[in-house]
Amino acid sequence: MRNHEKLWYKNSIIYQIYPRSFFDSNGDGYGDFQGIISKLDYLSDIGIDCIWIMPTYKSPLKDDGYDISDFYSVYEPFGTIEDLKKLFTEIHNHGMKVITDLVLNHCSDQHTWFQEARRDKHSKYRDYFVWSDTDQKYSETRIIFVDSQKSNWTWDAEADQYFWHRFYPSQPDLNYDNPEVREEMKNVMRYWLNMGIDGFRADAVPYLFEREGTINENLPETHAYLKELRKMMDDEFPGTILLCEANQWPEDVRQYFGDGDEFHLGFHFPLMPRIFKSIGQQDASSLVNILKATPDIPENCQWCTFLRNHDELTLEMVNQEDRQWMWDFYAPDKAMRMNLGIRRRLYPLLENDRNKIGLAYSLMLTLPGSPVLYYGDEIGMGDDISQFDRNGVRTPMQWDDSLNGGFSTSITTYLPVIDDEVYGYHKVNVKKQLKDPDSNLNWLKNLIRIRKESIALGEGDIRWLTQGENIPVLAYKRQTKNETIILIHNMTENEVSINLSVDTGIYRDMLQPSVLFYSNSMMSLHLKPRAFYWLNKEQ
Ligand code: NOJ
Repeated sequence: MRNHEKLWYKNSIIYQIYPRSFFDSNGDGYGDFQGIISKLDYLSDIGIDCIWIMPTYKSPLKDDGYDISDFYSVYEPFGTIEDLKKLFTEIHNHGMKVITDLVLNHCSDQHTWFQEARRDKHSKYRDYFVWSDTDQKYSETRIIFVDSQKSNWTWDAEADQYFWHRFYPSQPDLNYDNPEVREEMKNVMRYWLNMGIDGFRADAVPYLFEREGTINENLPETHAYLKELRKMMDDEFPGTILLCEANQWPEDVRQYFGDGDEFHLGFHFPLMPRIFKSIGQQDASSLVNILKATPDIPENCQWCTFLRNHDELTLEMVNQEDRQWMWDFYAPDKAMRMNLGIRRRLYPLLENDRNKIGLAYSLMLTLPGSPVLYYGDEIGMGDDISQFDRNGVRTPMQWDDSLNGGFSTSITTYLPVIDDEVYGYHKVNVKKQLKDPDSNLNWLKNLIRIRKESIALGEGDIRWLTQGENIPVLAYKRQTKNETIILIHNMTENEVSINLSVDTGIYRDMLQPSVLFYSNSMMSLHLKPRAFYWLNKEQ
């Protein structure tokens, strides 16, 4: 395998699919595997390199599939394991990779392991979970779902003890001090890797082990186990990858890359809210500061940039002052807030304003990392905050202007399709946007195409060309041996003229290739409000 093929994940566009909402092929109101298969041409045409399919396991869906009741079977309405295998094969036939969710930290309380464990103190499964006679243990541990949880312990009358859970009580944490659990989960991975997937997005990895007197996150024992998993993958399934979901500060996420022997990819959680803050405050300094505070990562690793996903826009990785500012600015209606975050989609957050959304996408596509796109954000779908929990950002994909936005022929769907004036399926849908060269979809597709022409945008170094306490115009350089690209973003709503100190030469605007800029060690530019440029130095 050639090196760039081996390192494909370092420069990939990843697309996140929530299977329940993508496409319903059999008219039962739920999205399914066959439905995704029928839309693969659409995805490869956008330029997607890798699809991340959210949980497909058997589950009572108390946390939308992140509560797994059997790691070896699939949620029935999605189809059969054979259908899923076919989906993996078809994704590969379309020249794309596929990763699935690996949920290590917990399972569903409906899982037979937990059922046995609570029923019988002497069952071997008792020790698969974390029990206590008091709810005072591990008191330094924070609560993640702060809106609904008061404690990480829940009393189980049948077991006559408390059990430990970092998320909902329907998701008991597995006990990683038990070697059998560690082995079980390796086997789960082997089972899915044998089916030919290219890797996993590993859910909630900071919380695997518990130790009294700690905050029970990012513990050395957790890293040691994750390294074991990586080694197993390298030995038995070479070329497969791990993407880390650790909503932590940069120096803590850095640990998950190890010496290039733990995770290949990691979401940059602290960067994401700072992209929104920078756009809202018309000042990119917070974004620059967090990236400057981000340690280097090993050569074979990569960040993932993203704007939105299936959860609330998390504000855990900002301070209280910034969190309040983000809430006031982006979630003025309290119903838009959830836990420490904002349950809204990209387009409504940025007021459906192509200029602001352009800045967001340009930053996501040109800052270091492999970008991860959330389904529906390519067409500019809206959200529905009347829905429970995070369901408002998980509504059916809008394919056309027929019944249910073309998502399903069923009279009722598990969640209603968005049908409002601005974001409703009559207005915002794939079919319409494919035909319109200036649609959200074609506009983003073009940005993705251009990003993919450049190795430097995927793998180049970053050098900041604008600095300071206030950065109204953000400029940086991405560079490899053979390529130099200057990225310039006017973060403000005003026209701005700037002089940038850049290497002498001719620069071609990658977004409008007939436009050239010249630098005689200094480049002068006049920028429209919220304009951005991707300038490629002619060799
Ligand atoms: C992170 C997932 O993104 C979220 O949706 C889920 O609720 C928790 N992990 C628990 O699995």
